[in-house]
Amino acid sequence: MRISTYIDIYYNHRLEKANILKKIYIYLIIPFNYFIEKINYPKKINLDEYAKVNKKLFKKNLNFLFEYFNSDKGNKFINQYARFSKKNNKLINGHKYTVYYEKHLKKLKKNKIKILELGAFKGNASASFFFYFENSFIYSLDLYPDLFIYKSERIKSFKIDNSSEKGLLNLPQKMKYDLIIEDAGHYLKDQIITLFTLFPKLKKKGIYVVEELDFPDTRKDMNLTNDKNTLYTILKSIKNHKPIYSQYISEDKKKYFMQNCKYIKIYKGRFNKIAFIIKK
Ligand SMILES: C[S@@+](CC[C@H](N)C(=O)[O-])C[C@H]1O[C@@H](n2cnc3c(N)ncnc32)[C@H](O)[C@@H]1O
Repeated sequence: MRISTYIDIYYNHRLEKANILKKIYIYLIIPFNYFIEKINYPKKINLDEYAKVNKKLFKKNLNFLFEYFNSDKGNKFINQYARFSKKNNKLINGHKYTVYYEKHLKKLKKNKIKILELGAFKGNASASFFFYFENSFIYSLDLYPDLFIYKSERIKSFKIDNSSEKGLLNLPQKMKYDLIIEDAGHYLKDQIITLFTLFPKLKKKGIYVVEELDFPDTRKDMNLTNDKNTLYTILKSIKNHKPIYSQYISEDKKKYFMQNCKYIKIYKGRFNKIAFIIKK
């Protein structure tokens, strides 16, 4: 983990609110705290080597794998977001999305698929998908790719910023994916532009997943302008054959989506909603 990432994640919100004395104090303690974090940060794991001695993982279901690799998509997980000094090994409730993932993805299990994961974080879900889809290739992207702790011949990790259309251009131009999972910036605008910009990058019959779909409807900090046209309301309108509007969707993108979307399913996990959008 880079020091700039460490500051962004753990200190930026404190620095924004701090007065000058507090700022000086924070900047003085950062190098020491970063050093502690850095030496305790998990070492890179080569999944190709790991798989040779853990072949049984290829036979496990998704919930087992999410829990094994500590993704918050499963039933339980150990908090991966806390920094080293605040970490404990207590199992806490995860999003419990697994049943929906299994329902939609099981049929792809043995296929040679390309997966695009936005918001890969340490790679906990990437490692789970590596074993669940043993013939897959996974593009694991994040605003902070230095957080990623796995490597493999079947995984490529690099930077993306899904908060702007320009940031999304960092993807290989002509590549198309069987599965796109968006678990990155959950702000209202991020969710909308990511879906409508990346939908053309899905292959025919591909699946696009949006996690925490209802964040902008339920969390003020994810919808600072209190915009009524959230992705959740847009998807519900499409399901109900009603017109949609968003300042973030161009007419071209809207047209492409409407012509190519086969159906949309919205489910509730333990805390939040998740959408599965299937292409024609
Ligand atoms: C909830 S975590 C992802 C958890 C992970 N998918 C898992 O299963 O363990 C969200 C991730 O999105 C990333 N993120 C936040 N804003 C982003 C942005 N604008 N562009 C890309 N990634 C972003 C964060 O750095 C963080 O790693």
